[in-house]
Amino acid sequence: MDTKRWSVDKNVDNLTGYPQITQAADLLLNNEVVAFPTETVYGLGANALNDQAVAKIFEAKGRPADNPLIIHIADEEVVSDFVEEIPEKAKQLMKAYWPGPLTIILKMKEGVLSEKATVGLSTVGIRMPDHPVALALLQSTNLPIAAPSANSSGRPSPTTAEHVWDDLHGKISGIVDGGPTGVGLESTVLDCTEEVPVILRPGGITAQQIEEVIGEITVDPALLDSGQKPKSPGMKYRHYAPDAALVLVKGEREDIQRLILEKQQEGLKVGVLTTEENESFYQADKVIACGSRENLESVAGSLYDTLRNFNSADLDLILSEMFPDEGVGQAIMNRLVKAAGYRVISL
Ligand code: TXA
Ligand code: MG
Repeated sequence: MDTKRWSVDKNVDNLTGYPQITQAADLLLNNEVVAFPTETVYGLGANALNDQAVAKIFEAKGRPADNPLIIHIADEEVVSDFVEEIPEKAKQLMKAYWPGPLTIILKMKEGVLSEKATVGLSTVGIRMPDHPVALALLQSTNLPIAAPSANSSGRPSPTTAEHVWDDLHGKISGIVDGGPTGVGLESTVLDCTEEVPVILRPGGITAQQIEEVIGEITVDPALLDSGQKPKSPGMKYRHYAPDAALVLVKGEREDIQRLILEKQQEGLKVGVLTTEENESFYQADKVIACGSRENLESVAGSLYDTLRNFNSADLDLILSEMFPDEGVGQAIMNRLVKAAGYRVISL
């Protein structure tokens, strides 16, 4: 399949009339799959009302068939077409954080959305992305668009059109290139079907930000304990992984450096994931600074690109520093722990 590529300047006014957007929207209306930027990561979109269209997403990504897709919309009004009821807390959150990186899980109205997208569940996750290109496409098609992250299943999510191209060219109809995404990690997934809403996946909107609006929430226990079965189907799969084995290391940088030498003496090629603060301290086969510790948003923004960049160095092992488990750090640690397959060592 020929994969079309369009470049769009996300800063121009009124993108809806642009030929690139119209052409991409036409493909979506024809039930083809197209990748596009959102404020979190690139998504791989298809008409959420059509089974054949949605099936193409699963095929292109190699995605497990039991993992539901998030439905993207541009207009809050249409939510009631897809769900039974919108609880007060969900309304308050939409008002506060939409458009933005918050996916809200609600009880679904039967028979409207493709069952391929919702994989037979009685709930559906909906979000309004905060990106002019995504919103222009949604408005131009006037369709609900099902869109997972536009990576091959298991690989780090794409934060540039180049990442999407590397994973999916030849397998999808098109990619709208709107430049690098902003947040860099996926949306927060919040289950609002319970009286006390539950975070199923930490992401761009922090637990604190949600609590400021609706008060008490809880966190799916599986996020804290790898032995438990997660409530969000997607969270049980290995994810975000670079080619080499990744291990998270709790300890001082001097101890981490000693471990690097030890592993190199065993004949391994070793990489280190650190931040600008320690970049020149480490001696290893590859050292990558992922943002700055002073600004965890910068770490989130670069994390997936960093994980992909390690693949060019043909390493055996990547050691990663830890990050504070608060604010956006919760989402960073969640993705790193998963990318490491839960391997964490303390020195
Ligand atoms: O930021 C994002 O959310 C990006 C952009 C493209 O919007 N999308 C994204 O989609 O990350 P995906 O498919 O890679 O992750 C969706 C997550 C999965 O863990 C899935 O299991 C969960 O949301 N999910 C979707 N619908 C659900 C539902 N009804 N109940 C529980 N979890 C659900
Ligand atoms: Mg994904």
